Amino acid sequence: MIGVFDSGLGGLTALREIVRLLPGRDIVYFGDTGRVPYGTRSSETIVRYALQDMRFLCTQAVDVVLAACGTVSSTALHVLRSTFPLPIIGVVEGAAQAAAHATKNRRVGVIATGATVSSGAFVQAIKSIDPQIDVTSVACPMLVPLVENGYIADDDPVTALVLDDYLSAIRAAGVDTLILGCTHFPILTGAIARALPDVTLINSGAEAAKLLAAQVPPKQADEEGRVRYFVSDSVPGFARVASIFLGEPVEDEVTRIDIERF
Ligand code: DGL
Repeated sequence: MIGVFDSGLGGLTALREIVRLLPGRDIVYFGDTGRVPYGTRSSETIVRYALQDMRFLCTQAVDVVLAACGTVSSTALHVLRSTFPLPIIGVVEGAAQAAAHATKNRRVGVIATGATVSSGAFVQAIKSIDPQIDVTSVACPMLVPLVENGYIADDDPVTALVLDDYLSAIRAAGVDTLILGCTHFPILTGAIARALPDVTLINSGAEAAKLLAAQVPPKQADEEGRVRYFVSDSVPGFARVASIFLGEPVEDEVTRIDIERF
């Protein structure tokens, strides 16, 4: 069983790619919608939440987990890996590799949550591949509630206004490649591409899914390609935006749990 988790809807960007790369696999997704956002919180709180998320997934017999959250991947991955004896993949490494490979002018931008930008994880990962790459990072916390509340159309005027402000430093830096370092942000790919038409966008969730696909255990005979979703707050809000993003209704597969029990 493949486990995927995020603070909310963002991890669906990884999930969609896993389903594409590994059709027929059983997947369990947890979105911590009752406690989103993670990216504005202290590292102690992020670690505590991530440990609970993992404990819940372990009750679902997962044998590999994708921490499909930039905030968790940059802040808590080392704690998770030293606590749970199973492969846990984060979203930093694959995106850093893809960006280092894609950039021609060696100027890369990173947009992510405040916690991720403060951790310096993407900068470190990119520099460890090529120290000559210049990295400009901008925290874009307001994009997370915009996604959670469904402001996801390519031409949404509210999202366009917020992006215009956040992306001014990215434009000024002349980057040719931009890492969407919070997994919520690829849901806004259309809007971001409109704001930065000549920039290559790197989807951190999708890049992590590729890493997962390369090391996932073989498919079991009883797997039937079922994706089950668990959330820590009301089902309809999650189901509505998730169905739009995934292009199919998911409501029947969504269950609410009390994450504080784990
Ligand atoms: N999708 C998340 C991330 O990648 C979480 C955003 C948040 O909860 O603040 O960082």
